[in-house]
Amino acid sequence: MPIEFLKDEKQFHIYNNTISYIIRVLENGQLENLYYGCRLPEGKSYVYLHQEKGRSLSALCTDGPNEISLQYTKQEYPSFGGGDFRYTACKIKQANGSHISEYKYKEHFIFNGKKEIKPLPATYVENDCEATTIQIVLHDSLVKANLVLTYTIYEGLPVIARNARFENHGEISIVIENAMSGCVDLPDSDYEMVHLSGAWARERHIKVRPLIEGVQSIYSMRGASSAEHNPFIALKRRSTTEITGEVYGFSLVYSGSYSGQVEVCSHETTRVLMGIHPDTFSWELNKDESFQTPELIMVYTKNGLNDMSHAFHNLYGKRLARGVWRDRERPILLNNWEATHMDFTEASILELAKKAKSVGVELFVLDDGWFGKRDNDRAGLGDWFANKEKMPSGIEEFSRKIVKIGMKFGLWIEPEMINKDSDLYRNHPDYILETPGRFSSPSRWQFVLDFSRNEVVDAIYGMLEKIISNSEISYIKWDMNRYITECYSITHGSNEQGKVMHEYILGVYNLYDRLTTKFPEILFESCASGGARFDPGMLYFAPQTWCSDDTDAGERIKIQYGTSMVYPISSIGAHVSASPNHKLKRQISIWGRANVAFYGAFGYELDLNELSDDDLEHIRQQIAYYSKYRRIFQFGDFYRIKSPFEGNEASWISVSQDKTLAVAAFYQQMNKVNAGYLNIKFTGLCEDYNYTTEYFGHKEIFTGAQLMYAGINVDRKELNKDDGDFASVLITMTKC
Ligand code: GLA
Repeated sequence: MPIEFLKDEKQFHIYNNTISYIIRVLENGQLENLYYGCRLPEGKSYVYLHQEKGRSLSALCTDGPNEISLQYTKQEYPSFGGGDFRYTACKIKQANGSHISEYKYKEHFIFNGKKEIKPLPATYVENDCEATTIQIVLHDSLVKANLVLTYTIYEGLPVIARNARFENHGEISIVIENAMSGCVDLPDSDYEMVHLSGAWARERHIKVRPLIEGVQSIYSMRGASSAEHNPFIALKRRSTTEITGEVYGFSLVYSGSYSGQVEVCSHETTRVLMGIHPDTFSWELNKDESFQTPELIMVYTKNGLNDMSHAFHNLYGKRLARGVWRDRERPILLNNWEATHMDFTEASILELAKKAKSVGVELFVLDDGWFGKRDNDRAGLGDWFANKEKMPSGIEEFSRKIVKIGMKFGLWIEPEMINKDSDLYRNHPDYILETPGRFSSPSRWQFVLDFSRNEVVDAIYGMLEKIISNSEISYIKWDMNRYITECYSITHGSNEQGKVMHEYILGVYNLYDRLTTKFPEILFESCASGGARFDPGMLYFAPQTWCSDDTDAGERIKIQYGTSMVYPISSIGAHVSASPNHKLKRQISIWGRANVAFYGAFGYELDLNELSDDDLEHIRQQIAYYSKYRRIFQFGDFYRIKSPFEGNEASWISVSQDKTLAVAAFYQQMNKVNAGYLNIKFTGLCEDYNYTTEYFGHKEIFTGAQLMYAGINVDRKELNKDDGDFASVLITMTKC
């Protein structure tokens, strides 16, 4: 059993081949974290790692002979208000107004496999032997409440999945004001914090900063995980690189408001807390009710950032994403958004679709503008039936026309939103989240439906189920184009308003669950003004996400590089769009654009009717090339090689699991005049294999060792043949 309990020491050792996580019960019954890192031997006591020290100004948590101060103890799940003056993992308000909790060890259970935490998304096992789980039950005897901490360790991955559940077994209600998914106290603070931050159209840029005393945090209070900060933090040593060194990765399986913070105390220890954001949350727990936190995924490796990413990619690609599309190659699509926006007719769309078919596109996606009175963004959201002026055949008949052309058909929806100019709003003005007596802030002229109410979710489900059932739909793009403001539900009492933000997300999960269950063959792609909700919670329902509204290849190098820190390449929606790019006016050749978009769920998003015959021929060739290497691009082991955040160049490689095939890419950002040789080295190959290496029409055989340690020299003149700035090259390596 890879979870060991030493009775005398009251010590739990959770381990697999590569990692160990060690907890023990303190003298006062609370839990202490003794160790988290590389695998340590089992059967041993690690109690000596306890840092027992009362200092001036510290409060003790026992009045026994040992001076134990919670402030200096690495705690497992600290609660508010005892002797620990750092931010804590939970804060519970009790009937008398007190916030002091004392959760003490009661019992524990160890079992094979992993339990679901429905309705929340979570990682899973397909077979009980893939993982072992421990549930440690703590009890607060004064209020008769339990706290159940659950940890699952995966056999073959350096991963621990954890969550917390609060149970009220007392007669009197308590109010949870803060309930983190997990806390980790590390014994030193010599780390850099890595996070993925940005904004609309520049999501998930990699930020790195040294830890300093005090709190450094990322968060969202927007009701969505957000474009501003992705729910991910890594702590790495200063010397850690992509291929060597220690990293702890923390990723929250949640799509709503969250907080992730790292606190360095005055004695140089580090505390990581991650969970639902407490400022937009409070939860009254009545007798016999329980509250379940989202899951926190923790990865530890001593082999660098790529190794951390592989753990996330494998876990999220194989044991978070579900359904028939999890392992299937994703279709090459054409989306009409950047080609037409909402300005189209059935005839113009059919013409575009025929052109798409003629170059080899497999799936045609009709984006925003097909429903209600949707001619601009002021109207229509909420009315999920065809706009008959634009689409006289209706979606039902139209979808069959696309199928007849020889492509699959996909449809855009934005189910969580409503325009005031819609039949849905005229019939149900009470369906929106807004605070009585206060101004309701419009955003893109739309408002957020109150998905904390079942009847609202039911109404949307009814409309969508009907149109999807009656049409030939193979793909759905589920968009969400604004954040939540004035969060208030008219069906909730004053003491229940703190639940609404979280219940909203549960409503979104509920609708996803119903639609994906009813239509298991449909491929879902999530989207939120591009990548404003690119998070593990969404991946549980939709195996791919539209990465960013910024389709400029130059910008996408950074966005996709950052996204790859956590998310599998098969989950990254990436399209070739027009040049000059609509947002940046930057011009990049058709191959330069594809060389970036290939590393993802690939497609096109431009008006094919405006392209030259040459470019259409290039697209045909690109589709043939991508089809040949699609499995490598989407499901290969992806290694970052050179960071666009650290210099003018970027590089990465996808390698098949058996290392017999790889496709690498090298990108320059600004062109350089009279520059030196370009030497490109690779990662992830097998030293001893011979690889036929092809790029720019060259074909040579090199060993893996040559390719990784000596690299290849690329002539800059060749590199610059199509593009100067943002020139790129793909290098294909096949074992011979
Ligand atoms: C969002 C999406 C785009 C497109 C538009 C349609 O911005 O990210 O891809 O679907 O909405 O309104």
